[in-house]
Amino acid sequence: MQTTIDVQIGNQHISIVRVGPTDATPILLVHGFPLDHTMWKNQIGALADAGFQVICPDLPGCGISSPIKGDTSMRRAADQLARVVDRLDVGPVVYCGLSMGGYIGWQFCLHHREKLSGLIACHTRSAADSEIVAKGRRVMAHSILQTGTAELAAAMPAKLFSLHAVAQEHAAVADVRSVIAATAPETIAAWQRAMAQRPDVTEQLPSMDIPALVIAGEHDTITPAAEMSAMAAQMADATMVTIAESAHLSPLEQPARFNEEVIQFLKSVS
Ligand code: MLT
Repeated sequence: MQTTIDVQIGNQHISIVRVGPTDATPILLVHGFPLDHTMWKNQIGALADAGFQVICPDLPGCGISSPIKGDTSMRRAADQLARVVDRLDVGPVVYCGLSMGGYIGWQFCLHHREKLSGLIACHTRSAADSEIVAKGRRVMAHSILQTGTAELAAAMPAKLFSLHAVAQEHAAVADVRSVIAATAPETIAAWQRAMAQRPDVTEQLPSMDIPALVIAGEHDTITPAAEMSAMAAQMADATMVTIAESAHLSPLEQPARFNEEVIQFLKSVS
């Protein structure tokens, strides 16, 4: 049975969807920017049905978690998720993060390795932003506080999904647009500022001694498959797959193929 629980970490409430046998291998599904746990709607039930324990948070400020107080960072979010894992008392988890969820995953791996049995890095990168990209994020953080989320909600799906999905108005495109529109501008601004200052972890990849699955999308232009492949090659124990006919959000665009890869990996580390 699927339950939604509220875990309080300091002054932050983090909402968690939890489903699946409590003695099964746990997988922590961490969404990307600026989304919430519904990004994993095709995984939550399917992974539980395959015999795994699914723990799926809304990051601070996202979904029904409480607003972010002050600033945040990839490290701070990783520390908060590590405390969630402790609080749930589930033992080591497989961390599966997409894009910004992946940036947080590197910090989880570097600072809370003992709480991990595996890492799934989806549509993400180890490099930091260039100064131009970081500046663009700070500009966007400032402007969204003045103008609200409507413009971002209208424009962003075209970058996240393949042309085909956008042209067909795939149901997931409309869902993602609604989630972005409903997210507080303060949340979007805080995560943009946090991503702009995230560290480059590329040199630390070889020291991340953990079984890993790296998932890219054939048509992903935000985190291109070629860059992810170079990243996977530097990791100590990583397998790389590229999902055909998908852009940046393969869990939504190609859920069956994505779930197949994830279930195979979960079996290999269980
Ligand atoms: C995401 O999907 O989380 C974003 O594309 C990450 C980013 O803006 O770098």
